Amino acid sequence: MKASQFLISTLKEAPADAEVVSHKLMMRAGLIKKLGAGIYNYMPMGLRVIRKVEAIVREEMNRAGAVELSMPVVQPSELWQETGRFEKMGPELLRIKDRHGRDFVVQPTSEEVVTDIARQELRSYKQLPKNFYQIQTKFRDERRPRFGLMRGREFIMKDAYSFDRNPTAAKASYQVMAQAYRQIFDRFGLQYRAVAADSGAIGGDLSEEFQVIAATGEDAIVYCPTSSYAANMEKAEALAPVQARGAATQALTQTATPGKSTCEDVAALLNVPLNSTVKSLVLATDTLNDTGEVVKSQVWLLLLRGDHDMNEVKVGKLPGFEGGFRFATAGEIDSHFGCKPGYLGPVNLKQPLQVVADRDVAVMSNWVCGANEVDFHNTGVNWGRDLPEPDLVADLRNVVAGDASPDGQGVLAIERGIEVGHVFYLGTKYSQAMNATFLDENGKPQFMEMGCYGIGITRLPAAAIEQNHDAKGIIWPDAIAPFSLVICPIGMDRSAEVKTAAEQLYADLMAAGVDVILDDRGERPGAMFADWELIGVPHRVTIGDKGLKDGLVEYQNRRDPEATKVPAADVLAFVKAKLSV
Ligand SMILES: Nc1ncnc2c1ncn2[C@@H]1O[C@H](COP(=O)(O)OP(=O)(O)OP(=O)(O)O)[C@@H](O)[C@H]1O
Ligand SMILES: [Mg+2]
Repeated sequence: MKASQFLISTLKEAPADAEVVSHKLMMRAGLIKKLGAGIYNYMPMGLRVIRKVEAIVREEMNRAGAVELSMPVVQPSELWQETGRFEKMGPELLRIKDRHGRDFVVQPTSEEVVTDIARQELRSYKQLPKNFYQIQTKFRDERRPRFGLMRGREFIMKDAYSFDRNPTAAKASYQVMAQAYRQIFDRFGLQYRAVAADSGAIGGDLSEEFQVIAATGEDAIVYCPTSSYAANMEKAEALAPVQARGAATQALTQTATPGKSTCEDVAALLNVPLNSTVKSLVLATDTLNDTGEVVKSQVWLLLLRGDHDMNEVKVGKLPGFEGGFRFATAGEIDSHFGCKPGYLGPVNLKQPLQVVADRDVAVMSNWVCGANEVDFHNTGVNWGRDLPEPDLVADLRNVVAGDASPDGQGVLAIERGIEVGHVFYLGTKYSQAMNATFLDENGKPQFMEMGCYGIGITRLPAAAIEQNHDAKGIIWPDAIAPFSLVICPIGMDRSAEVKTAAEQLYADLMAAGVDVILDDRGERPGAMFADWELIGVPHRVTIGDKGLKDGLVEYQNRRDPEATKVPAADVLAFVKAKLSV
């Protein structure tokens, strides 16, 4: 490619709405152009990166035995009604009507359509296992699209779906994909971690996220530096403390804490450690009748240590919370506590309720909590003596750094990650909803066992940049760089030697199959170098007439602090060795 024919449009400044470095650099390097909130043009330079990501994913998916197909972006709603997702999914699902008033959705993922294909095409156990995948445009009307391609509304995903005859075979298919993902992410040259993720109602451990490590990542990932344990925050278990509950040595005392309604403020006022305070979260669960009306509500008091945060996924799994939960209303709080939030506690309740204590709270003694009277807290609170033992003790909280690793092999550390891939064992959730069966060896219909597997094709370049950049711009890993190498001739218009040498090297590299761009725009050296450093092409050869007089050109890797002089006669071999071609 010649730069004069290509489109290179770099910017000195990033737009004001770009918060993270990948978004800023993608905009400045001219890789993407914003069309609307979370909607971007993939400009020629950016599309080259996306195509390289796709090619690697496609190659490894094919190698793993998956079969590519393509499903429509705009899908009739009927299939989505079969699974109930047309109604159940929130506003993330973009619903549209055609000219006849028929409902359609813009696919955020494609379980329904692929299951419809499977139930028509896969009739016998002899046709299983099958894994269908596509690399296709997705739309999710994200509540907060941000960070450029990182969280777009329109984006490209590779989504794959496996179909198997039984759970054992399905789990084997899952493992094939999990292994293929490792292969894929290794090839991108990024630092990543595969972490156990919550698998919802299905249970088991068959859900993993592939997280690119980056300080700006939206996800907290938990790992044990001395073992192979890794999980996302939703999933990571906080073990029960090993130490037994201490003795009740303090008397229960009502203490004035005027205006102090948070654990932090109370701990500071009373000069006690934050981990001796307990916070009260009042939740409610509703029982609905067939028409969706609430027929009964139950109020729950969850107790967490003042320095801990509630984990909504764990809470959602408590017995009685299967149908979902919400925060209690002011009225519900008043009728059980006779007090407003900020001073609530489990001692002296106006009306009994279910008390669920976090594992850490259950072993506390002489603790501090709200006194159910505005501007007052209780100190010296003790289980058994001042209030009954909790109705239930459970893991309700997010782990924190330093907690014991659930595998017993050390302590936990926390870092940030960007979710670039997800593998998930689905079971028969969709096949049952859509009656997708095959005939087994005995001619009996059985529901297909499924798995689904996603990779964020357009999120990946953003994650790569978060991990690989410097003050000058992007530093692409070789595997996904828009161009592998740029030739920067200096004064090509003035010097016939430079022009000849540059064009010769360009022709030789093209012939060797190298993805090379020749910068024949006639830019001044400073501007030319700044562009390529911003764009992040990993290898550069600079050709100038001064060097050529001594028979030399310059080679510089984007990560090298300085250029290396190379005999002009050897440069082709030198560069080919660098690129391993
Ligand atoms: N809004 C988005 N923009 C870009 N990529 C996305 C977006 N949402 C999801 N992806 C990518 O698609 C992959 C598979 O989709 P999945 O349904 O698992 O996403 P998700 O868990 O909802 O993602 P997130 O938690 O980041 O919203 C994700 O691992 C991610 O790489
Ligand atoms: Mg996910």
